[in-house]
Amino acid sequence: MPVRERADIVVVGGINTDFLVQGPRLPAPGDSVQGHLFLESLGGKGANGAVGAARLGARVALVGRVGMDARGLALLEQLEGEGVDIGAVARDPTAMTGVALEMVDEEGQRQSLAAPGANLCLKPSDIMSAEERISAARVLLVQLEVPMGAVSAAVHHARAAGTHVVLDPAPAMSLPEDLLEAVHVIRPNAEEAEALTGVEVRDRDSARRAAENLLRRGVGGAVVASPDGSLVLSSEGELWLPDLSLERADTTGAGDAFCAALAVALAEGRSLAEAARFAHEASALATMRLGALAGLPMRDQVESRLALLGPRGLWTESAPL
Ligand code: RIB
Repeated sequence: MPVRERADIVVVGGINTDFLVQGPRLPAPGDSVQGHLFLESLGGKGANGAVGAARLGARVALVGRVGMDARGLALLEQLEGEGVDIGAVARDPTAMTGVALEMVDEEGQRQSLAAPGANLCLKPSDIMSAEERISAARVLLVQLEVPMGAVSAAVHHARAAGTHVVLDPAPAMSLPEDLLEAVHVIRPNAEEAEALTGVEVRDRDSARRAAENLLRRGVGGAVVASPDGSLVLSSEGELWLPDLSLERADTTGAGDAFCAALAVALAEGRSLAEAARFAHEASALATMRLGALAGLPMRDQVESRLALLGPRGLWTESAPL
């Protein structure tokens, strides 16, 4: 592959159209609520991660599947417009492009229901076609909206090729031990951490217990998000990043923004602690706008916040492993 085509980051993951409605409150089962705002946009954790990393200045390639429908074509055009290499995104003749229905209330609480469509048709052979891209990249970012066969093929290929593996284990599920062993950095939210470790994550202490569990099982470093902050743990130490009290419009895509920024900073050779601080600010910025795509910040926005606020969180050497 010519050097100019190399991506710093390859993202393997889901691509959706998001249909978002904001209303005064979220509907309870059997309930109908009249909302007041509608937004249609590019979404899916893979697509969000790819755009998020591109907006932060990385060269990014996406591996995924969309349908042969008009929505699939529109999403590909949008990804290209954001500077993402879509050469490894296939158009599937047998399935529709993925869809996610997002509901958001005025406090920024959300509910989501997705029909994955073509995302579920991603195969290990799609990963084989992208192997050169993955080997040439610095970081592979992968989530769990595509089948485990594809996830596993990508992670093991990257590990063998010396490409750093960042796993966003979303949506929540348990994972095979050999997959965890191949991961350099994992970033679960509280629900995902509980599905992986059985630890109910409520605060810093329980986040540490979940992170310790993941490290014992072979993961290189963990960033566990709890309701009041994120706990970063590796063999080098522990960092606690308290939740940033910002006016939140919508948390859709905040985890995607975090993982994209983490991947970018790691691809630039920063330490896990530095990368997590950068990602923490990017993720906070992402909650200030409605919709996953709209919230993904540009590089200068994240840098300005870091310059204004200074480094946060206290790094503790020698974590209690
Ligand atoms: O993480 C947010 C994303 O999850 C949305 O864009 C939606 O498509 C779902 O995949």
